[in-house]
Amino acid sequence: MNLEKIKQTGFVDETIDPTLDLFEEIKKLKKEKNAVLLAHYYQDADIQDIADFIGDSLQLSQEAAKTNADMIVFAGVHFMAETAKIISPQKKVVLPDLKAGCSLADSCPPELFAKFKAKYPDHVVVSYINCSAEIKALTDIVCTSSNAEKIINSIPKDKGIIFAPDKNLGAYLIKKTGRDMVLWNGACMVHEIFSLEKIIKLKERNPKAKLLAHPECEEAVLNKADYIGSTTGILNFSQEDSCQEFIVATETGILHQMMKASPNKTFIPAPPNNNCACNDCPHMKLNTLEKIYLCLKHEQPEIILDETMRKKAEGSILRMLEISK
Ligand code: 13P
Ligand code: SF4
Repeated sequence: MNLEKIKQTGFVDETIDPTLDLFEEIKKLKKEKNAVLLAHYYQDADIQDIADFIGDSLQLSQEAAKTNADMIVFAGVHFMAETAKIISPQKKVVLPDLKAGCSLADSCPPELFAKFKAKYPDHVVVSYINCSAEIKALTDIVCTSSNAEKIINSIPKDKGIIFAPDKNLGAYLIKKTGRDMVLWNGACMVHEIFSLEKIIKLKERNPKAKLLAHPECEEAVLNKADYIGSTTGILNFSQEDSCQEFIVATETGILHQMMKASPNKTFIPAPPNNNCACNDCPHMKLNTLEKIYLCLKHEQPEIILDETMRKKAEGSILRMLEISK
């Protein structure tokens, strides 16, 4: 394999025999190599359907920590595969497309964050898992959208807190916990795209519909929400609540599991503030069945981390996993 070329393209670029049944080939390779395919809810439906495990960020990191597989194929974005490698360094971790990044993780460059952190030497640093390994190495406790409140509440009341990188989740947590946190000014391009005006109009046209929102959305959208939670939280709520119609303010990939679990309910993606499909995450959607097949076959692109940095980052994730038990 030409590793230089993979670095340039981000993935294994090889022509695939069009007669191959990729579902079957992927299944065969997974068995042969004792590999596990982990997929985030934001992946395309076909990837979710072939995955061994589908979940939100917390569940995926818990699964990566406990799997007996020799290889983890991560159908998600770079920070997720990197997290898996940080906590399971003895395993081979591959990502179908190395360019599957995250606008939120990119909004927090480590050099700038280190300077920001230095201004508050007595503060505990809590970072949302959507950040690079370098940021995790500068962090005391990592959190996800499903355990953030618990993590913040676990910190002694007299301690100052820096929260990075998502200012929307941070502002939501300040409201929920009453803690006065210093926020890094980062955001997710997908969750900031929803149009409040269009959501209000949609609610007027569908008065019975409940608005379900991810806490990465802006405050104005969250203020209108009937339920706020992680992707798993949103999915569970849509199953358990008696309401038949939901407007969903998060990435559209989650709709696949919602419709599967509640085929008789109606799910409407919250409209973006323009006419394109911008509530699809362009990074998550870089993964395809073809890239997953080639990545399993060649065991590339692989996540490789500097060991000193990995060790520094590991503590902050293990602390999160411990508190989340
Ligand atoms: P959760 O998986 O915690 O719901 O977060 C969603 C997300 O933005 C992942 O990138
Ligand atoms: Fe990052 Fe937003 Fe995509 Fe999640 S949806 S991976 S936070 S850009």
